[in-house]
Amino acid sequence: MPLSRRHFVSALGLGGAGLFSPPLLSARGHEDRLVTLLSGLPAPGGLIRLDSNENPNGPGPRAFEAIKAMFGEANRYPDDPERALVAAIAREHGVSEENVILGCGSSEILRMCVEAFVSTAQHLVTAGPTFELPATFARTMGRPVVTVPVDAKLRLDLEAMGNKAGGAGLIFFCNPNNPTATVHGDETVRDFVARVRRDSPATYILIDEAYHEYVDDPTYRSAVPMALADANIIVSRTFSKVFGMAGLRAGYAIVHRDTARRLQGWRIGSGVNVLAAAAATASISDREHLALEQKRNRDAKAFTRAYFEKAGYEVGVSETNFLMIDLRRDMRPVREACRKEGIAVGRPFPPLNSWLRVSIGTMEEMQRAVEVFRKVMG
Ligand SMILES: Cc1ncc(COP(=O)(O)O)c(C=O)c1O
Repeated sequence: MPLSRRHFVSALGLGGAGLFSPPLLSARGHEDRLVTLLSGLPAPGGLIRLDSNENPNGPGPRAFEAIKAMFGEANRYPDDPERALVAAIAREHGVSEENVILGCGSSEILRMCVEAFVSTAQHLVTAGPTFELPATFARTMGRPVVTVPVDAKLRLDLEAMGNKAGGAGLIFFCNPNNPTATVHGDETVRDFVARVRRDSPATYILIDEAYHEYVDDPTYRSAVPMALADANIIVSRTFSKVFGMAGLRAGYAIVHRDTARRLQGWRIGSGVNVLAAAAATASISDREHLALEQKRNRDAKAFTRAYFEKAGYEVGVSETNFLMIDLRRDMRPVREACRKEGIAVGRPFPPLNSWLRVSIGTMEEMQRAVEVFRKVMG
């Protein structure tokens, strides 16, 4: 039986509850012990999680050291660590600190944009399917949403989205798109932006680049330069994907300073905790680790793609850390069967009900997953 976190902790005589008891939290000098406790142990349940586009390798070594060093500050509000993170992001992008807004994950950025720019009179334009959070926020707030289906190649239908832009408060443009893994090149993005700016000048465009670091398509460019030049464009990024920190929660937006002023008021404030801020600050410029993560993803993705293609399935293009596979039948029973065999895969993304989204795990996880896919799918 694999060693669980609880067993490991009790083996050290601390007890599960004791690990998080106030004396240990407040005592400096225990950081090494805590990090040892939390590292390198299997997640509970032994499930291989290929369902949420997380990075299976977790944060890199620099992030780990930074968390360790910051642990003694866990009793303080994150003002200084947040300031340090803003400075690191600004340095990385070659922008001014006033162009950076932090979020508790990029999810907070998405929520802020919906709150600031979508109203009962100014709708949200989104795609179907795309990352659902902006539409979910808008609907919860009672604000109108127009959903434009992806095209036959699973790409965002920018022509049709542009047709719905008139009078919109916000367009959500996920590039690369989750869950379809497609990307639009620089020229296409610029043409789309120019068209919206001409036809509906008051509309904001939120370009979500959560999977930016995984893109291989040479025509792709980040929209950050566009956001700096145009107050109606927001670019969001996250530390949850290639940086492996989905559970820590840190994301950000790069925006024009006028837009930063509008958005700041919608922040939680102290939304990025001290450990997340320290880990993100330490990781953002770690080129070596980034390259390693990109290679790991590329290799495990190629292995997984090869299995499905050899088995006769259509696999969509993928500029991300997940694949979309057309099973040519309802994916839900397959998903259930995989789950019973210890592999969690993506949920249904209507109307693409025959497509299965498989996030890329480690090579070992994908080798195990392929055995299960073979058994389940025949
Ligand atoms: C396209 C996209 N944007 C944003 C997010 C939100 O990520 P987070 O809040 O962890 O930064 C996700 C998460 O999967 C995503 O796929």
